[in-house]
Amino acid sequence: MNENISILISEEAICQRVNELAETINKDYAGEPLTLVCALKGAMIFMSDLARKLDMPVKFDQIGTSSYGDSTSSSGKVRLTKDLDFDPAGKHILLVEDILDTGHTLLFIKKHILSKEPASFKACCLLDKPDRRVIHEMTSDYVGFTIPDQFVIGYGLDYAQLYRNLPYIGVLNL
Ligand code: IMP
Ligand code: MG
Repeated sequence: MNENISILISEEAICQRVNELAETINKDYAGEPLTLVCALKGAMIFMSDLARKLDMPVKFDQIGTSSYGDSTSSSGKVRLTKDLDFDPAGKHILLVEDILDTGHTLLFIKKHILSKEPASFKACCLLDKPDRRVIHEMTSDYVGFTIPDQFVIGYGLDYAQLYRNLPYIGVLNL
C-alpha cells in the first residue's frame, strides 16, 4: 500500500453499507422502474456495486460535470461535460454520486434534471462532508457515510484522476 494513504473506510465496511443502502432503496421504490444516473467518473464503482443489489427494473444513464480541475478545492463553477443519453421526463431518477461536498455539483445536476420533469428525483451519495457545505440547503436522500473535512480517494474518488481503483476509501496525506 502507498505509505501516504491511510484507510478511512475499509472494503468490508463499504460492502456492508452498500448492501444496507440497496435494501432501503428497494423498500422505498417497491418494484417501481428506476433510472440510475451515474455522476461521472467518481460514482462508477459505487453505482456498479449498488445496482447489482437492486431488485426493481433498472436502467443506467450517466452525467458528466466539471468543477474541480486537478486541485483539492472546488472552484464553485460547475459545467456540463456530458449530458444524459435518455430523456428523464416521467421517469424515477436516482442520481448516484461519490461525494457531497460544497453542494455546487449536486445543485447543478438536480436543477438540470428537474428542468426535464422526471416523475421523481432523488440523490444517493456514498459520502457526505457536511462541514464543507456552501449550499447549505443541499442534502442527499441517501448517504453512505458522513465523513470529516478530509480529502479522500479510492472506490471511485480521485486525486488528479489517480487512485480511483483502490478498493477502500483513504485519506491522502499530501
Ligand atoms: P461539490 O460540488 O463541492 O459538492 O463537489 C462534488 C465533487 O467534487 C464530487 O463529485 C467529487 O468529484 C469532488 N470531490 C469533493 N470532495 C472530494 C474528495 O474528498 N475527494 C475526491 N473528490 C472530491
Ligand atoms: Mg473528482
